[in-house]
Amino acid sequence: MIKQLQLFLLSMTIVFSSTAQQSSAVSIIPQPAKMVYGNGVFTLPDNLTITISNADSLQQMAASLTHILQWRNNHITVVTETKNASSGIFLDLNPTADIPAEGYELRTDASGIVITASSGSGIFYGIQTLLKLLPKSVENKNNTAMYGTWAVPYINISDAPRFGWRGLMLDVSRHFFTVDEVKDYIDQMAKYKFNILHLHLSDDQGWRLKIKSLPKLTEVGAWRVNKTGTFGRFSPPTPDEPKTYGGFYTQDDMKTIIRYAAEHFISILPEIDMPGHSLAAIASYPELSCTTGTYAVNSGEQLMVWPGGGKHFYGLLDNTLCPASEKTYAFIDKVFTEIAALFPFPYIHMGGDETARNFWEKSDAIKALMKEQHLANLDEVQSYFVKRVEQIINAKGKKMIGWDEILQGGLAPNAAVMNWQSPQSAIEATKQGHEVVMCPTAYTYLDYMQGDAAIEPPVYASLRLKKAYQFEPVPDGANAALIKGGQANLWTEQVYNMRHAEYMTWPRAFAIAEVLWSPKNTRNWDNFVQRVETQFERFDIAGVKYSPSMYDPIFDIQKKDTATLLVTLSTEVSGLDIHYSFDNSFPDQFYPTYSGTLTVPKDAAALKVITYRNGAPVGRMMVMPVTEMRKRAGLK
Ligand code: ACM
Repeated sequence: MIKQLQLFLLSMTIVFSSTAQQSSAVSIIPQPAKMVYGNGVFTLPDNLTITISNADSLQQMAASLTHILQWRNNHITVVTETKNASSGIFLDLNPTADIPAEGYELRTDASGIVITASSGSGIFYGIQTLLKLLPKSVENKNNTAMYGTWAVPYINISDAPRFGWRGLMLDVSRHFFTVDEVKDYIDQMAKYKFNILHLHLSDDQGWRLKIKSLPKLTEVGAWRVNKTGTFGRFSPPTPDEPKTYGGFYTQDDMKTIIRYAAEHFISILPEIDMPGHSLAAIASYPELSCTTGTYAVNSGEQLMVWPGGGKHFYGLLDNTLCPASEKTYAFIDKVFTEIAALFPFPYIHMGGDETARNFWEKSDAIKALMKEQHLANLDEVQSYFVKRVEQIINAKGKKMIGWDEILQGGLAPNAAVMNWQSPQSAIEATKQGHEVVMCPTAYTYLDYMQGDAAIEPPVYASLRLKKAYQFEPVPDGANAALIKGGQANLWTEQVYNMRHAEYMTWPRAFAIAEVLWSPKNTRNWDNFVQRVETQFERFDIAGVKYSPSMYDPIFDIQKKDTATLLVTLSTEVSGLDIHYSFDNSFPDQFYPTYSGTLTVPKDAAALKVITYRNGAPVGRMMVMPVTEMRKRAGLK
C-alpha cells in the first residue's frame, strides 16, 4: 500500500515537474488530466498523411483537420487503415480501448502523432488538444498567416473530463444572434471542450423559435421597438414606434445549428421560459394570461421591481402564463411537441425562474384552481404548473430541467434542477434523488461585470475571472453522483452584439471550461493566467474578442476621516506595475508606481491608473472620479 502510494507520488512529481519545465511550450485550456513530456519535436511533413481507423465516423473530422492544416504547398492525404500507416497523424477510434467516455490519449514521438479514443468525441477532443500544441497560426480561419514548419513537442497526454455536462448558455431572446453568429460561438466553445449550448429561446423581450402550429409567436412575439442604451431603463415605447428589432430561427435554421453543433460534439439544450418571463408569448396570444390587458413584447422598459431587503419582487404587468387555464397547457403541448421533434438532446428546459405572483394573488381563476386542486399557497400553484409541464415534456419522451424555483411547492417527480442561486437547492434536490446542473451566479454569470464599474459596461453585479476560476461544482452536502456538471450563463440584456458577447464570455469561460473538465487538483491560478494569455494570442489571430479586465486594478476605497479618502489597489494577475496620476493627465510608465495605500489629495478630481508589464501597457486607462470614490467610501 505504502509502496503504491510512493510510486503514485513519484509519478505525480514527474508529471508536475515536467509541466513546470515545459509550461511555456505547451499551453492548453482546459488543462489535460495528465501530460508527460518527451525530448524533441515531431515536424509535420509537407506530404502529410492523416490515417483514420474508421471511415464512417472519422471522415468528417479528418476533412476539418485537413482544412485547418492545409497551408501553401503542402499536401495532405487521408487514408483509412486500422493500423498507423505512416509517420503522420493517426486517428484511432477503438471502441474497446480502455479510455473513458469523451477521453482520449495523444502521443507524439518520432513516428508521428497518434490520437486514440473509445468514442468519436474523444477523437475530437484529442484533435482540439493537438491544435493547441501547434503554433498559433492554426487559428487563422482563412489560412493566410501560415508559414514556417509546424512542429509538435513529443508528449504523452491522457485526458478525460471531470464532468459530462460542460455548458454555456446564450440568451438569444433579449438580443438576437444570427445562425452564423451562433455557429461562431459554437466554434469557440468547441476549442475549449464545452459540450452543451443552452439556448434561452424565449423571454419577455422576444420569442426566437418558429412554432409552426402557433405562427403568431414569431410574427408578433419576435419583434419589439429598437432601443439602445441601458436595457431595463428605456422609456416606454409609444404606439407610433415601429417594432423593427428582433428575429427568430426557422425550424430549418435550428436544424442547421443543431447539425453544426453536433459536428463539434455540442448538444443544443432548448429553453422556453415559463410561467414567468412569458410576455413575448402573451403579446402573441393574450388568452394565455390570467389577467386581461393589452400586451406588447417588452422593449427594455422596466417590467419587474426588485425591492430588495427580503421583499418579494413583483411585475408591473402580468408576464406569466396562467396556470389555471387549460388553454395554457394546450399551448405548452403544441410548443413542446415541435421542440421535442426538433431537438435530439434528451432534456428540455422549461425555465421556471422569477415568476411574479402579484397578479396571481388577485386572480379569481387562480383562487378557483387552488380550491379545486387543494393548493395551499402560490408556491403550490407554481408547483402544480411545473408538474403539469413535466407531464407534457415526459409524454414527448424528454426529460425536464428547470431553474431552482421549480423546487418551490414541491419538485416534479422526474425533474432535473439547474442551480443558479444558493447551493441549498442543489443540496436539497440531490437529497431528493434529482439530477442537478450547477451555474451559481456567484461564479458563472457571464453577464456580470468582470472588472470595476469605472471601466466596464454597467451591470448590477460583478464576477472577476479569479472568482470564476474558484467555482467548485459539487457543493458541500450535495450527493456528488447527481451533480451532472455545470455551465456559465450569458444573459444578454446589456449585450447588443456578438463582439460584446465574446468580450463577456472570454476569458471567464476559459475558467469554467477548466473547472468542468480538468481534475480539481490540477487547478493553479498563476499557471492558468499564463495559459489564458496564450489563448488571447490565438483569439487575436482568430478575430475573437475577449476582455482584458484581468489586467485592470481592483480598487478598495475607504474613508480615513470625514474629508480624506484612502485608496488601496491590487491586481488579479501578479507581476504588474500600476502607474497613477491625480492631476488629470494620463499616466504611463514614467509616472509614479503604486507601492501602497494612496491618500487622495484634498482637491483632486480623479485618480487615473494603468497597469504595465515589462515597460508595456497591458491594462486600460481607468478613470476613477473622486465623486465616485466618495460615494463608495460612504462620504457625501
Ligand atoms: C436566472 O438567472 N433568472 C435563472
